[in-house]
Amino acid sequence: MGRNGKAVTMSYETPGQGRPLTTALAEAAATAGYAPSVHNTQPWRWLVLPDTLELRIVRDRQLTATDPEGRLLAISCGAALHHARLALAAEGWTAVVERLPDPAQPDLLARLTGLDRSGADTDAMRMVQCMQVRHTDRRPVSDEPVPTAAIGEISRAVAAEGASLQILDSDQVMELAAAASHAGTIEARDPQLREELGYWTSRADGGTGLPPEVLPEQQPQTTVPGRDFGRTGTLPIGPGHDKAAVYGLLNGDEDEPDSWLRAGEALSALWLTATRLGVSVVPLSGVVEVPGTRQTLRQLLSGLGFPYLVVRLGIADPAHAGPPHTPRLPTEQVVDTSAVRDQRS
Ligand SMILES: Cc1cc2nc3c(=O)[nH]c(=O)nc-3n(C[C@H](O)[C@H](O)[C@H](O)COP(=O)(O)O)c2cc1C
Repeated sequence: MGRNGKAVTMSYETPGQGRPLTTALAEAAATAGYAPSVHNTQPWRWLVLPDTLELRIVRDRQLTATDPEGRLLAISCGAALHHARLALAAEGWTAVVERLPDPAQPDLLARLTGLDRSGADTDAMRMVQCMQVRHTDRRPVSDEPVPTAAIGEISRAVAAEGASLQILDSDQVMELAAAASHAGTIEARDPQLREELGYWTSRADGGTGLPPEVLPEQQPQTTVPGRDFGRTGTLPIGPGHDKAAVYGLLNGDEDEPDSWLRAGEALSALWLTATRLGVSVVPLSGVVEVPGTRQTLRQLLSGLGFPYLVVRLGIADPAHAGPPHTPRLPTEQVVDTSAVRDQRS
């Protein structure tokens, strides 16, 4: 979404033809830095090899108390993987993606190989531009309904990545609201979770975590409570509510690292498509973090799938300028090009 909350209008530059593959790989990994991640942990590291790009987990940035199984970590890394795939496609490269290619190395999440030249993909170019303006806007949405056609397009983008988006009806939204409130209470009582949240919301610099500028100055009035970050920020919020918001449950057939990674790719596809259509997205993961409320979400899926993440979809209030962008780690801390240093232009 543009800063004024409207759908993004794009202009294109011709992708760089004839640049070395290693440069394209390094640039795709750098572009993946725009990806969203839980608490802005950016728990990934890319290794650029002569004809391969590898994505690895950085365990130091895992939320060990909040996310001991690594579900949200893998979803975050999957979003980065999808960003990198699109960045390569926008530059005219196709790649074969191997997910969790080596059982002996569970932290090696993906390997992109078999890189080949194709025509520049204008859809991918547009999505790369959406990466640069996408952001989490935690303020209330406007009263404008989300167009049904947009929800359809967003759901298809999720399905294309092998996951599903279940749109919740009004009774299910009430159940979600109760579950989110319950999850919030449980998390607020847990000293380890509070300490972890405190750490990621009080990092003055360093390029990770959530600065006060992106956190609301007071809890917005909502039916489904957003995450209580345990501290107020400085982001001014208007009087709005979430009445016109649509809630969706990202889900899939398995509850394993491979499916979490794909869920992250689907989340990226969802969010970039929404951005292109002028729809604002806020993930709500507290309900997934607490086992009891995750079970409630499972029941909302009639036991037919596993919940990965809840998303609030809405039309941002056009009176609001977007919140400032959340900082990112410097590229050299997340992209290792040491193996190809001599080969890059
Ligand atoms: C797996 C995942 C879970 C998230 N959970 C929440 C959440 O519960 N509440 C929230 O306000 N934001 C949530 N976010 C949004 C992140 O905080 C946000 O993406 C990150 O701070 C980077 O900011 P940006 O999206 O504005 O670039 C989540 C993001 C991801 C990828």
